[in-house]
Amino acid sequence: MSDHPSQHQRPERAIRSYVLRKGRLTKGQQRALEELLPRFAVPEAPRVADWPALFGREAPVALEIGIGGGEALVGMAGRHPNWNWVGLDVYPPGVGKLLLSLEAEGLDNVRVGLVDAVDFLADQVPDGSLAACYIFFPDPWSKERHKKRRLIQAPFLDLLAERLAPGADLFLATDWADYAQWMVEVMEAHPRYANIHGPGAFAPRCPDRPPTKFEERGEQRGHEVYDLHYRRL
Ligand SMILES: C[S@@+](CC[C@H](N)C(=O)[O-])C[C@H]1O[C@@H](n2cnc3c(N)ncnc32)[C@H](O)[C@@H]1O
Repeated sequence: MSDHPSQHQRPERAIRSYVLRKGRLTKGQQRALEELLPRFAVPEAPRVADWPALFGREAPVALEIGIGGGEALVGMAGRHPNWNWVGLDVYPPGVGKLLLSLEAEGLDNVRVGLVDAVDFLADQVPDGSLAACYIFFPDPWSKERHKKRRLIQAPFLDLLAERLAPGADLFLATDWADYAQWMVEVMEAHPRYANIHGPGAFAPRCPDRPPTKFEERGEQRGHEVYDLHYRRL
């Protein structure tokens, strides 16, 4: 699929869902970004992703947004070798760590972007080309004045709905009770997603979600984890 994505009203781009931290790269991560990223990278902007060409095969494409250190993505891609997996994040050390894991595990069904996922979705993902999307522990932006930065908002969900295939799955997880409630409200109000577990219901733990660093951190703070599972109508 190489059709140009539909022109989409972008979510308000003055406000991003992250603050760009460069972080300190280990030597291994530095090498991974230099040597491995070219091998695993999604196309550079503004080239539209041609998934079969990028992966060298036709298979359902699953996207993870905000991969952190890539623990979940490596687990999911290993368990589902017949799917093509795409992981996006803006944090170089996390992407470097993921690349090192892909090399160590010999996984070839993953492509990686050190990019803002909202820009990538808007400009480079063909309409209806994603079979699933996973967003685990998005930045909670817990202060009232920062909530406008939360990724899960109606304009982002409009854009994602264009890029997901009908019937595609959307999995969300958070350890912030307030964000969980917010997610339920915006998801239930959106006309293009249906809650698999019934209106307003949380889901059992996503079967594909291995524990990540952020989940463990939340548990140490005594936070409960909330999963949500929607289907694109
Ligand atoms: C709290 S961390 C969670 C990471 C991972 N999912 C986990 O559970 O360990 C949120 C991640 O989302 C990334 N992120 C936030 N907004 C993003 C965006 N617009 N595009 C890509 N990544 C983003 C951040 O850089 C960060 O790594």
